[in-house]
Amino acid sequence: MKKLITLAVASALVATVAGCGNKAATPSPSPAASTGAAATTAPAPAKTDGKKPTIGVAIYKFDDTFMSGVRAAIADAAKDKATVDIVDSQNSQPTQNDKVDLFITKKVNALAINAVDRTAAGVIIDKAKTANVPVVFLNREPLADDMKKWDKVYYVGAKAEQSGTMEGQLLVDYFKAHPEADKNKDGKIQYVMLKGEPGHQDAELRTKFSIQAITDAGLGVEKVAEDTAMWDRVKGQEKMAAFLASSESKIEAVLANNDDMALGAIEALKAKGYFKDNKFLPVVGVDATAPALQALSDGTLLGTVLNDAKNQGAATTNVATALANGLVPSKETTGYDVTDGKYVWISYKKITKANMNEAK
Ligand code: GAL
Ligand code: CA
Repeated sequence: MKKLITLAVASALVATVAGCGNKAATPSPSPAASTGAAATTAPAPAKTDGKKPTIGVAIYKFDDTFMSGVRAAIADAAKDKATVDIVDSQNSQPTQNDKVDLFITKKVNALAINAVDRTAAGVIIDKAKTANVPVVFLNREPLADDMKKWDKVYYVGAKAEQSGTMEGQLLVDYFKAHPEADKNKDGKIQYVMLKGEPGHQDAELRTKFSIQAITDAGLGVEKVAEDTAMWDRVKGQEKMAAFLASSESKIEAVLANNDDMALGAIEALKAKGYFKDNKFLPVVGVDATAPALQALSDGTLLGTVLNDAKNQGAATTNVATALANGLVPSKETTGYDVTDGKYVWISYKKITKANMNEAK
């Protein structure tokens, strides 16, 4: 957790140090060569022979609403410049490791990995480095120490704390405009939190920074309940139903680390008669998926934060393609700013019914 914040702060402060030149990166010497062991050198990168490079893409699981959008954006951006082979890791790290081995055997020119377990990135980097296949991680941020293992390792993602802050601010705006939302008139927001997968940077930091945004705005806040619903809509509905069963009268707001869980919570609230006859609870999420935008326009979801699948997908494709073509990723070679030599950060944006067209 500490590490994550330090990393985020560090990468925000450090100026862009990415190489601006377009020359090919020199392959680093193989571990065997440097230890003087059997005279094997790192294999040369697979040749593209003027053809479109092939990128092996492993998604943590296909059955994830937000990642489905990223997946489509990766394929879309690749159309004229790369062939993408996109596989489902089925939420299993061993399965993903097998897929990576297969990509390496097939001699793909670059890898794009949405790790199942972000702490497993180190193992994937070791495999990629040994085979000299550049790797771009996305959405699940590897630990800083793993990112430093090789110069052909990149990360495309968004600053989790930014989304948390924006989510909290959406509630602040609502409570300031609607004093009656403080039902027990104690000057505090009594909330329930639906968390994503524990350990995921987006789950941990959205949980923390959404609440911090509320206290930073000078409002009191009190947790009624918190549980993980693993980014999942059905689990979100079940957990919210349980919160309502135990403490309905206390709850004044619902924060979910993503829209799917927020939409599940809305289902549970509807079952209890909310969103009609003036019975309302503010629910906020993150992602701005299509069903979430529908809920905004229906007036059930109060607000969300755009997690820009289109740009995250396009940046992933562009960085992987640049690397596959032997170029150093930079603004010129990818169209995206590269921070700290390794990171492409895509901005979040607050979305309510008023500006929802900006998320479409
Ligand atoms: C988050 C997103 C979640 C889920 C998760 C998967 O960025 O908000 O909805 O897709 O990534 O890692
Ligand atoms: Ca209150």
